[in-house]
Formats: sequence, structure tokens, C-alpha cells
Amino acid sequence: MSDKFSKIYDLSIKDPEKFWHEAANDIFWFKKPTKILNKSNPPFYKWYEDGVTNTCYNALDFHIDQGKGNKTALIYDSPITGNKSKFTYEELRSKVSKFAGALKDQGINKGDRVIIYMPMIPEAVVAMLACARIGAIHSVVFGGFASNELASRIDDSKAKLLVTASCGFEPGRTVEYKPLVDEAIKQAQHKISKMILFQRKGHEVKLNAPMEISWDEAHANAKDTDCVEMNSNEFAYILYTSGTTGTPKGIVRDIGGHIVALKWTMKNIYNIDADDIWWSASDIGWIVGHSYIVYAPLFKGCTTVLFEGKPVGTPDAGAFWKIISDYKVKSLFTAPTAFRAIKKEDPEGKFFSKYDLSKFESLFLAGERADPDTIKWAENLLKVPVIDHWWQTETSWAISSNCTGIEMMKTKYGSACKAVPGYDVKIIKSDQTLAKPNEMGDIVVKLPLPPGTFPTLWNADQRYKENYMSNYEGYYQTYDAGHIDEDGYIWIMSRTDDIINVAGHRLSTGAIEEVLSEHQSVAECAVLGIADKLKGQLPIGLIVLKAGVDKDNETISKECVQMVRDKIGPVAAFKVAIVIKRLPKTRSGKILRGTIRKIADSVEYKMPPTIDDPAILDEIKEDLIKNNILKSA
Ligand code: COA
Ligand code: AMP
Repeated sequence: MSDKFSKIYDLSIKDPEKFWHEAANDIFWFKKPTKILNKSNPPFYKWYEDGVTNTCYNALDFHIDQGKGNKTALIYDSPITGNKSKFTYEELRSKVSKFAGALKDQGINKGDRVIIYMPMIPEAVVAMLACARIGAIHSVVFGGFASNELASRIDDSKAKLLVTASCGFEPGRTVEYKPLVDEAIKQAQHKISKMILFQRKGHEVKLNAPMEISWDEAHANAKDTDCVEMNSNEFAYILYTSGTTGTPKGIVRDIGGHIVALKWTMKNIYNIDADDIWWSASDIGWIVGHSYIVYAPLFKGCTTVLFEGKPVGTPDAGAFWKIISDYKVKSLFTAPTAFRAIKKEDPEGKFFSKYDLSKFESLFLAGERADPDTIKWAENLLKVPVIDHWWQTETSWAISSNCTGIEMMKTKYGSACKAVPGYDVKIIKSDQTLAKPNEMGDIVVKLPLPPGTFPTLWNADQRYKENYMSNYEGYYQTYDAGHIDEDGYIWIMSRTDDIINVAGHRLSTGAIEEVLSEHQSVAECAVLGIADKLKGQLPIGLIVLKAGVDKDNETISKECVQMVRDKIGPVAAFKVAIVIKRLPKTRSGKILRGTIRKIADSVEYKMPPTIDDPAILDEIKEDLIKNNILKSA
């Protein structure tokens, strides 16, 4: 281990309070914290409990106070609509402060929940920051989720208000948000009291006043509104993520720790300074978008790019290079899928050679396993370091990474590098003992987690404790499995629960199974994530029909696919439901999902000793071949 990094890392583990006390000096506080870490009620740790601050103040006002109001805060580029704009810190604050006033006019106060269901437009960022300004808790819902998912988030968060837009644009289709929102409001038990809708030009929709008002109407009498003082442990936002069951978990973020940790990461992990241009090609509906499109770059005071487009098809595989070149982006953060998509479309990098990327210094990948082929391809093309780093919605920032602002470490292809300062990562084997180097096991993080992670789940302390903090006493269970090698490099191999990663999007196979089970002809089913060259994983469903069903299999499959699209959303990318005779199970009745997945991925498998009837595996193989999932031998 190199000296500079290891010294900093060791301090963060040996004396986290000292480490994070120092980091806290870098942010703005109305009242500086004197109590750095409260450990009195594990696993509910509290960082900076007597500190008073505001997220929006740190993102905008703080920089303006330092004379940087004219600096560009946000660049919006939408190849999908042809729109582009730039906002200085002053301009962005002005919009945020007005919308904060608009929210207040609608009765939104500190602690109230606001759902934001919007495409990648500046107004979405404005809405998030406006909530932060007045201490409302936002919950952004990704636009690719269906009404049902939106309804479950309305119910769980008990949101007072919903901010949306008339539509989003996907290549080849317009996503009409209003009918989706209407349906969600209808389905939700909890009734929101107001909707504010941003009308996109040329796509205006009809609103039903007084419950539904347009973005412009909401601004009619809105006054500039100042930042409210927030206790460090109050919540900045709720972000729902897939859990081990179909019920999404509300990950919450406390205010002080979030600002301190995210600001710290910009220099230390990403080597970004205040004068740099940074781009995270994700969506604000995901954690990467929360942390690295909106909050971290603005806390740092640099320029962030908001991109409404895709790596390919908007209009071509040169879209990323164009943005990097046009805005002199220093570093890009995206999901490996995006690069696999570019590689597939333009393997020789013909588009790349058209652009000047001389200011580009590094590429960061996360969200799913980065396959070494893609990393090497990107390195070859870009001639800059390509860094795979590992994190989760739960943590909001990287657990392991090459900390390029501290010291550049060598790449080991297939590893997400070393634990980042703040995270004491261990591997625990199935016999509950700590693993030696290179031994596989569950990846855990010793408590307390550093600031900026999740202090609990929304209204679900017990679920937080049982789900994450109980299986291994004193550790946070990441639900990832892997090993740490002799040099401290972490290798993330798989999830240990039912989560799959489809194009870097986190989905629960359990949630998809719940939907399939609702089909009146389905007796039982199993959903698996099978390996996919582009999206990393893709879900497929295996369904067993009830006796006496007289509909044909093809119709049932189509209905199942449509049900998942309608109930979870297009983002599930669920396109294959295969009717089979029976599912392989253990003698105690547990479906052998792992074995089926290995068969589908053509990976060697051992016949499970507890299997009820081994012949079923051959039947499944034949079904997978018939459906082009598996090639015949
Ligand atoms: N709103 C509505 N629908 C959305 C959406 C959004 N914000 N985002 C995606 N969808 C839809 C897509 O239109 C698609 O619908 P379709 O079935 O009608 O075609 C479906 O959800 C699946 O989307 P996706 O998995 O993104 O596949 P794709 O084929 O449209 O695009 C890629 C493929 C590789 C271009 C795309 O997956 C991509 O850009 N990946 C990068 C991943 C990323 O940024 N992840 C963020 C986490 S870091
Ligand atoms: P999300 O909460 O959507 O960010 O998804 C988190 C999950 O994505 C992790 O628990 C991992 O399973 C996976 N993941 C994220 N980054 C990586 C990575 N660099 N390598 C392998 N898996 C990753």
C-alpha cells in the first residue's frame, strides 16, 4: 500500500471522529458541531448531532458569498430536444429561491415530503434544491418507473406535494407523465394535496385546478426565500430502492453528514477542484444522479453537466465525446453499460476521433460490475485512467475506489480497488469468521458507517436494524459477496439477495415475481437475472401455469411481459416470460434459482444434493434453448 493513501486511510479508521471533524471544517455551518459522533445507540449512529446547516446553502449561497456568483454551476444539454442552457450560481439560486417560495405558497414546510417525478431538465434540479432550501424532504422517483411504483412511494413517504413535468423523451417515444401520475394518485391510499407540473414546450397538457397547477402558475406570487436552519440529523431526502422483497426501502440521508462526506469525495476520490467541469451521465432518479449530478459537484462549487440523452442513438455513439469536448469536461462518471453500448455501436472509436478531448482526465464507472474488456477498450480509446468503483444507494458515495485525488493506485482489472477512507471493509465467511486474503464471503463494513451514509430507513428503524445490521453483529451487511486480496483490493462478485443490475439500474427479482404471481393463470414463477453482453444482466421469468388453463402460452407470456411493464415500468427491461412445466426445487420446496441461472448462463453447476427431481433441469434446459436463451450444445 502506498504511503500517502494508507496514512489517510488508517487515520480514518483509527480515529474517525478526528478525521470527520477535520472534513467538517470545509463546509458551511450556521452552528458548527461540537459533538462529532454519537455512538450511544448502535446501530443508530449520529454524526454532527449539534451542528446546524442547510444543504442548499452549501450548494449555492456559500459559493456566491465567496464571490463566485458568476461562475457556471449547471450546464444543461439535451441532444434529445436540441435544448442547451447554462446557469451561473447566482442564476440557479435565483430560480431555486423563487421555487422555494412557490413551495411555501403551497403550504410546504420543513419536514414535509415532496415527490419529484421528472425528466432530466434543470427544473428537476431546481425542485430538489428548493426542497433543501426550506427543509422539505424530497423523494425523487425515476421516470422509468410505472404508476404502481410511484403510488407505493407516495404512500410510504406520505408526500404532501408532487412535482412533475408534462413529459419526458426517450429515443423514439414520448413518455407522457400526466397519465402515469394520475394513475398513481388514484392508486395511492395517501392523498397528496397538490401537483405542480412543468409544461414542456409543445407538449402542454390539461391541468385540473386548483389541485393541479403549472410551474408558471406556482411562481405567480412566489417570493425569494432564504435557507432555513436545519439540524444536522434532520433528513435531506428519501430515495427508494429495491429491497429483498417487493416493498421498496426508503433510504434516508441526514443533512450534515451528507454535505461533509460528498464534498470530501470530490477532491479525494475524483480529484475535482472548484474550477473543474464535472459530468455524471446518470439520471437524477438514481443515487448516482442525486450525489454526483446535483449535490457533490455543487457542494464543491464546480460546474456540473445535466445531460438529457443516451450514450448511443442521441444522435449517435459520439454523444459522450461531444459533451466532453464542448464543455471541456475533466472527468466523467457513468455506468459500464453506457460504455458497452458505445463499444457495441462504434468498436473502433470512429466517432471519438472527431472530437478534442484534451481536457479529459479520467473516467469513473460504477453501478454494476465493470467487465475488464470494457475497461481496457475505454482505456485504449481514451488514453486516461478508467476507474471502477463500488457503492450503493445505501451509502450515497463510494465504499471502494481508487482515490485519485489522494494518490493514484494501479488498476487490477475486475477489482473495484481499495476501501475508501471511512469504510472498514471486511469479508465474513459462511461460518461467521473473518476471511483471510482471497477467501470469498459476504462483504460487510464495520460500524459505524462514515457520514453521508444512511442513518436509518424512512419510518422503519426495525427493518433497518434487522435487514442490514443484525446478521453480523457490529457490521453493515452490503448484500454483495466477494473477496479482498493480499493488497487490499476488493473484488465484488455477486449479490447475495434477489437484487439484479440491469443497465446499472437496481431491480428486485422478487418484485417482478410478485407481479407475475398476480396473473390469474400463473401458479408459480421464478425470475432470474441472466448475463447480458450489453446491460450486464437481464431479467427472465419462468412461469408454471395453473391446472386447466386454456389460454395459449404465447398470449400468457405477452400478458406477463406487459404486466411487469405496467406495474414496475419499462426500466425493468422485462421482455421474456417462458411457460415451463415445473420449477426445480429442493425437497423442502425452495426454488433452485441459482442453479437455473447457471444453466441459463452456460456456467458449470453441481447437481444440488437436495434437488427434488433432477430431470426438471433437463426440461428447463430444453425450454431455454427453445426460447433462444441458451444455445443447443
Ligand atoms: N423514463 C421513462 N422510460 C425510461 C427512462 C426514463 N427516464 N429511462 C429508461 N426508460 C425506458 C427505455 O425507454 C426503455 O423502454 P423500451 O422498453 O420502451 O425501449 C426501457 O426503459 C429500458 O431502458 P434501458 O435499460 O435504459 O435500455 P435502452 O435500450 O433504452 O438503452 C442504454 C440502453 C445502454 C443506452 C441505456 O441503458 C443506458 O444509457 N445505460 C446507462 C445506464 C445508466 O446511466 N445507469 C444509471 C445508473 S449509474
Ligand atoms: P445501487 O444501489 O443501485 O447503486 O446498486 C448497488 C449495487 O450495484 C451494489 O450493491 C453492487 O451489487 C452493484 N455495484 C455497484 N457498483 C459496482 C461495482 N463497481 N462493481 C460491481 N458491482 C457494483
